[in-house]
Amino acid sequence: MKVILYMGITINGYIAKENGDSEWTSDEDLKGFYEHSKKTGNIVMGKNTFHAASSYGYFPFPESINVVMTHQPIENKWKDKVIVTDKSPKQILQMLEEKGFNEAFIAGGGHINSSFIKEKLIDEIYLDVEPLVFGKGMSLFAPEDFEFNLQLLESIKLNENTIQLHYKVLK
Ligand SMILES: NC(=O)c1ccc[n+]([C@@H]2O[C@H](COP(=O)([O-])OP(=O)(O)OC[C@H]3O[C@@H](n4cnc5c(N)ncnc54)[C@H](OP(=O)(O)O)[C@@H]3O)[C@@H](O)[C@H]2O)c1
Repeated sequence: MKVILYMGITINGYIAKENGDSEWTSDEDLKGFYEHSKKTGNIVMGKNTFHAASSYGYFPFPESINVVMTHQPIENKWKDKVIVTDKSPKQILQMLEEKGFNEAFIAGGGHINSSFIKEKLIDEIYLDVEPLVFGKGMSLFAPEDFEFNLQLLESIKLNENTIQLHYKVLK
């Protein structure tokens, strides 16, 4: 199972403003995010990202199985397209494997990203670095105790001002 993390970030590593706003990423980031999740066939996100994506009108991503990680009860009105679960990151990957997936697409936010990477479960990271900086916000990874070296696989220009960095996580 290959596990991919895909996020749009500011140049100082934020994925959202303090109030949760992440609607500043480029069209190319949104397109890349959508196309990767479609190719993978699944998209795993935390409760807060679920709420943010719902408020922006993106949820559920129609071409994927949407997995929402939460310990709270959330009514599933979307049936088969959505799985609401309190399973651990490892159990979620196992569940996706049992459903026939050979790739998993992790879509944030910072808490979910950390909960996967600290268990050594992320294989590749795509970062769309947007031409923006703000002083207070939510980090790509919520503070947890982990450290990994990365290998740069590719860097491409998505538009005049946005660069995509593609890394392999060395484990
Ligand atoms: N720029 C981007 O590309 C991008 C992408 C995605 C999200 N975002 C932004 O990121 C923000 C949300 O990030 P976030 O870090 O606050 O929240 P998050 O990672 O989306 O969700 C965290 C919540 O998920 C639940 N959860 C369930 N299982 C968990 C586990 N094993 N480990 C940790 N949490 C678990 C917990 O809530 P309960 O225990 O209460 O259920 C936790 O509070 C949003 O504002 C969104 O817009 C940006």
